[in-house]
Amino acid sequence: MFVVYSSIYKCVAAGQLSSTNGTKIDDDFEGYPIDMFCVPKHYYNYVENILIPRGVIADRTERLAKDIWDALGDGRPIVVLCVLKGGYQFCSDLMDYIKAFNRHASKSVPMRVDFIRLKSYENDRSTGEIKVIGGDNLQSLEDKNILIVEDIIDTGNTMMKLLKIVSDHNPKSVKVCSLLVKRTSRSNNYKPDYFGFEVPDKFLVGYALDYNEYYRDLEHICVINEEGKKAFAV
Ligand code: IMP
Repeated sequence: MFVVYSSIYKCVAAGQLSSTNGTKIDDDFEGYPIDMFCVPKHYYNYVENILIPRGVIADRTERLAKDIWDALGDGRPIVVLCVLKGGYQFCSDLMDYIKAFNRHASKSVPMRVDFIRLKSYENDRSTGEIKVIGGDNLQSLEDKNILIVEDIIDTGNTMMKLLKIVSDHNPKSVKVCSLLVKRTSRSNNYKPDYFGFEVPDKFLVGYALDYNEYYRDLEHICVINEEGKKAFAV
């Protein structure tokens, strides 16, 4: 297991890790067998492997929080705009780390949190139509420094649409932090200001990422298998 763990961490030693560029997980990385970690029984037959264990997500999130705090920690308040539903776990954990830095340093970043809910996926495919289906009144974003927190950038279309919506409300500044960026030929080349991991072009679930609302209650980020796609299809 140490060998597999080190394959994620070795890029730090090799200097491939730039904290804002994200840790790259190669296409041929096999992930971790599910019986090496705790996976709920109801998903046991429905995931291929564990791509990013919860502990690694936590450690990387701490570093992202530090980078954000270093860049923004000059007393200016920020509005954290959490993209629901998939972004809720990452947003909560990221804010917890920023709050910890705030508690223990002589400078701090005052934070407010707003929510927006977008939907574009059915099964493992984008419907091509990105709908805003809920959230706070975005007029409160006017003249504020906004940090958008998202779970995953795939084609980049959702984020482009969201950036347009946010900029229509005249914020002072906008930064984007996404836990994951998918390496895919479908990408519109959008890259967020901060991201945790660059991941292979596979459908990922867990840590609040869903497939038709399933798998949000799985701790680790996993690759869904064909049985899972069939079992939870709509
Ligand atoms: P994009 O518009 O193609 O960049 O897709 C972004 C949105 O699609 C994310 O906010 C997710 O809700 C969803 N999505 C894309 N890829 C995945 C995935 O692998 N697992 C779960 N959700 C995904």
